[in-house]
Amino acid sequence: MDSIIVTGNGPLSGRIPIAGAKNACLTLMPATLLSDEPLTLTNAPRLSDIRTMTLLLQSLGAEVQGLQEGQVQAMSSHALTSTRAEYDIVRKMRASILVLGPLLARFGHAEVSLPGGCAIGARPVDLHLRALEAMGAELDLREGYVHAKVPSGGLRGGIVEFPFVSVGATENALMAATLAKGTTVLKNAAREPEIVDLAQCLRKMGAQIEGEGTDTIEIQGVDRLGGATHRVVTDRIELGTYMLAPAICGGEVELLGGTIDLVRAFCEKLDEAGISVEETTDGLRVSRKNGRVKAVDVITEPFPGFPTDLQAQMMALLCTAEGTSVLEEKIFENRFMHAPELMRMGAKIDVHGGTAKVTGVDSLKGAPVMATDLRASVSLILAGLAAEGETVVNRVYHLDRGYEQVVRKLQGVGARIERVRGE
Ligand code: EPU
Repeated sequence: MDSIIVTGNGPLSGRIPIAGAKNACLTLMPATLLSDEPLTLTNAPRLSDIRTMTLLLQSLGAEVQGLQEGQVQAMSSHALTSTRAEYDIVRKMRASILVLGPLLARFGHAEVSLPGGCAIGARPVDLHLRALEAMGAELDLREGYVHAKVPSGGLRGGIVEFPFVSVGATENALMAATLAKGTTVLKNAAREPEIVDLAQCLRKMGAQIEGEGTDTIEIQGVDRLGGATHRVVTDRIELGTYMLAPAICGGEVELLGGTIDLVRAFCEKLDEAGISVEETTDGLRVSRKNGRVKAVDVITEPFPGFPTDLQAQMMALLCTAEGTSVLEEKIFENRFMHAPELMRMGAKIDVHGGTAKVTGVDSLKGAPVMATDLRASVSLILAGLAAEGETVVNRVYHLDRGYEQVVRKLQGVGARIERVRGE
């Protein structure tokens, strides 16, 4: 297994291009199942999760070409051969559940393996299922699979009120509702930029949708959807992650393609911590203001709040801040797995349930560390950039799920980082 070796760094300088959003692409790709015409995505990221979604769609009979030059992902679902998403693929990636809504809406039946838990929490899919039931789907859970069908006449519009915000359940319901009869209203819907991106793409395919980006989305079902070409929105989590590199090491880095709108709550916390963020014509420029980073308190929330997907990376910054920071994780119950690894590097962190208290130390020390999930892995790389000596991050495959060319991008701004091939 490969590992990444990071050596503590001085100031960084230069530019980092930000890729298209993994989590947008993972819901835009299943949208191809809604139509028999081609869907083409540009600005798609080169990531192992995208390859897993490609394999899943291909297993259903969709034509999906490997990512082409210029990050183009071309897909067509004109000749699907199956409506069954097998456990062997679904278990690798929870986002596989996003094929359920589109398959059911277009074909009236689908069988999708239940994803099961993962490192950051139990992560059930009950909200996805309830939303589809509210549109008339009949569901049966047997042998680890959701067996879903709709009575003749297809899905019908309805009111879906989510008891709490779920990104994936909003996406599944939104896609399914585009082909349902009548009007569907999604209440307490997720407002993430990836939802807005999905709605914009579906509209290009002919869907009638209003209200994306607010907590109420209204969809007027249509008989069929056509093809489209769509550019995947910038990855706000990759953006936020690399914004933390100069915040941790000092220096000044420009993040190409970044906009404040994607990371406003995060920027507010950076400002409090003493990090400057300016909009430029090409993106965002980040530098550390004078003096040591200051402690800040963070609560993760659905968008537009502080994203859970940046909590681990923010913790890496706060490990060497002046004072004590309190981080509250409100989205996932088990998302502090990076804390014990950061403590191996000398960080002072107390975790109690969903709260972590981080008392800043003068410096971290390099150590061998183990990554447990995608965002935890990258937080250890960021911590390694701030540490004295060498940090070896093992289990790098987590990183490959969500960060394209992490080593090259950080080397490009002067970081001392390399990937070492394992057996
Ligand atoms: N939940 C339920 N029942 C459901 C659905 C969700 O209880 O049916 C719970 C979850 O267990 C969690 C909370 O609701 O506690 C919110 O989960 P949500 O459904 O919003 O998350 P998701 O759609 O599974 C997406 C991203 C995650 C990101 C979360 C929150 C994708 C593919 N994944 O997951 O991204 O953390 O939204 O913003 O879009 C990552 O990229 O590292 C990642 C984990």
